Amino acid sequence: MNKIAVLTSGGDAPGMNAAIRAVVRKALYHDMEVCGVYRGYSGLIDGEIEPFHLGSVGDIIHRGGTILHSSRSEEFKTYEGQRKAIENLSKHGIEGIVVIGGDGSYRGAKKLSEYGIAAIGAPGTIDNDINGTDFTIGFDTALNTIIDAVDKIRDTAMSHEKTFLIEVMGRAAGDLALWSGLAGGAENILIPEGPNNVEEIIERLNYSRRRGKRHSMIIVAEGVGSAAEISKEINRLANIDTRVTTLGHLQRGGNPTAFDRVLASRLGAYAVDLLREGKTGVAVGMEKNELVHYSFDNLFTMPNKKAEVMYDLVGQLSI
Ligand code: ADP
Ligand code: F6P
Repeated sequence: MNKIAVLTSGGDAPGMNAAIRAVVRKALYHDMEVCGVYRGYSGLIDGEIEPFHLGSVGDIIHRGGTILHSSRSEEFKTYEGQRKAIENLSKHGIEGIVVIGGDGSYRGAKKLSEYGIAAIGAPGTIDNDINGTDFTIGFDTALNTIIDAVDKIRDTAMSHEKTFLIEVMGRAAGDLALWSGLAGGAENILIPEGPNNVEEIIERLNYSRRRGKRHSMIIVAEGVGSAAEISKEINRLANIDTRVTTLGHLQRGGNPTAFDRVLASRLGAYAVDLLREGKTGVAVGMEKNELVHYSFDNLFTMPNKKAEVMYDLVGQLSI
């Protein structure tokens, strides 16, 4: 393998830059040529491909977002789009590619591997919804951003003796809600993987009130539905006045934590090692501090058990 490329796709995540840097520097270390592809699969289709050198990735390890930009491309899901992408890769003599992104991006990478381009996925998403890795790049940073907000809202919840609902991202996964709920001492957490019963929440709120505790924090994973709607339902059923904060896109940006920078650096470098070994159609991950890789097909069919592990503990501690 002499020439490879790297792209970022789907939602940006803090630590993507550290991963790009690791791919580029590791490839150059092994005397390979390496190109950056701008704007994910859209850039692959439009030929936005540029040779990268050591300086191309200087001063980026600490920066959020992605210097390569990211996109969601409907065209890449079509045969025509994929053919254009393959033609551009061939034109540049690119034999392998590292795709940094989420589950959808992995499906695109799998396609590339089926067309004969060696493709390795690296898990870049704040959602932590990818199998075959304990953590995805960006999750830790987003979690800390959420905790910062939760701590601030708690001050007001406590002072004003109010119930607050905080809606966090995560798509269909509850990890951001679960971890921020545990770390932020939330009284209730609603995640898609859980029972999500508003009556039960009201019962818990009333129990806390009987004990004399008049403020409460409820973390709602976006996969459950809108926190605003849940707030209305609580008010309708129990006449409890609540306030809602939807954290939105402030969860995706910001400087990556040291954990995310290290994770991204290790995974990016490992992806290049796998390309050098002739691997394709696999994604890298970190399990129990060990570098691992799984075929895309395995990842797509594995059950996601991440949330299960903590759900009971959260129920026992949050009252
Ligand atoms: P994420 O990677 O964060 O999960 P998306 O689900 O939006 O984000 O996927 C990112 C991009 O990956 C899509 O816009 C599309 O270009 C590509 N992609 C997703 N699913 C497929 C698929 N089945 N075949 C080919 N490309 C896909
Ligand atoms: O996958 C990352 C993520 O931030 C999800 O948590 C969220 O549901 C989605 O992307 C939002 O996407 P967009 O930025 O396109 O609104």
